[in-house]
Amino acid sequence: MIHRSMQALTGQERTEMIDKLAFTKPWSGILSLCFILAASLAVAQEEESRVPDSYPPGPLGKVVQLGEAMVLDTSKHPLSQPFVGNKLNCTSCHLEGGTDPQAGSFLGTASAYPAWSPRENRVITLEDRVLNCFMRSQNGTRPPVGSEVSVAITTYITWLSTGSKIQMNAEKSLGPRHLRMLNIDWKQANAERGKLLYKTHCLDCHGQDGEGTADGPPVWGNDSYNDGAGLSRVDKLGSWLKVAMPLGDPLLTDQESADIAAYINSHKRPHFKLEEHLPKAERLGEYNSQPSSN
Ligand code: HEC
Ligand code: HEC
Repeated sequence: MIHRSMQALTGQERTEMIDKLAFTKPWSGILSLCFILAASLAVAQEEESRVPDSYPPGPLGKVVQLGEAMVLDTSKHPLSQPFVGNKLNCTSCHLEGGTDPQAGSFLGTASAYPAWSPRENRVITLEDRVLNCFMRSQNGTRPPVGSEVSVAITTYITWLSTGSKIQMNAEKSLGPRHLRMLNIDWKQANAERGKLLYKTHCLDCHGQDGEGTADGPPVWGNDSYNDGAGLSRVDKLGSWLKVAMPLGDPLLTDQESADIAAYINSHKRPHFKLEEHLPKAERLGEYNSQPSSN
């Protein structure tokens, strides 16, 4: 299955828009030039980060598809299920299997790796990054480096970066389309207001007690992400909600996103202890982290 949620301007549309800016006044020429430049830059970015038209041929294409299947069905797929400790799938947060351009996008992600990771206090590869989401967001066990699960998912994410220019990230382990953080005062996030908003906008799909329903996964409790996950931070969750929820119709204001995030994360969820998420020593390889990390 290939998802396509992005629309680039076609060449035709661009030409039409530029035509509309008639060269009648002296400054309009300059304006038009700026517009053409901006449009071309936007198009270049879109082209770099769109879902490729087809899978690679042969065994490589099969592995891309295997990775895609596990990203969409992580908690049930027989290969990935043993490494998952909750009811979430990668696509629960990386919407549309990571092809959503904003909500946990995987488009272009591989081009940022290897990257410096302040959390691990080391340079990490894309594979390390994938494995870390298993321990935290999926509250599970870190699959061994080089295992079929790990390689297939990393291959799928790399395929979604087809055409992107390598630009290793020296500051953070985050790709070019990583979540944009809302620019608000997070201290003003109010869980009481969030509770009411949750009832109105979220409860039908995620349940009275955040336990999840047939229409949405658990958002707190034992079957959700643990407190070491990115979304356990109110600022990350609020910024993600803004572009992701309610599913298919994200309509919250910045303040509402922050309030609901504070409410959701005021509930209990599994506590992250690193030792509980590493595989047996002989299957670990090396956990890519330096002792001085937190
Ligand atoms: C509970 C939500 C959640 C789940 C489930 C989850 N992730 Fe993530 N993941 C995140 C968040 C939040 C980030 C940080 C994104 C950001 O700041 O842009 C992230 C980051 C990543 C990144 C780095 C992205 C980048 O821009 O560099 C990768 C790769 C990744 N996750 C892979 C996975 C894989 C593979 C799975 C499934 C095994 C998974 N994640 C499951 C929430 C989740
Ligand atoms: C129409 C049903 C629906 C509504 C309404 C909805 N969600 Fe979701 N939500 C989902 C689904 C489905 C997913 C998983 C995405 C997927 O698998 O494609 C999800 C994923 C999530 C996740 C990440 C995974 C997890 O379970 O932790 C959070 C957090 C979340 N929603 C919070 C909210 C909040 C807060 C609201 C209200 C503002 C909301 N949702 C409204 C259906 C919904």
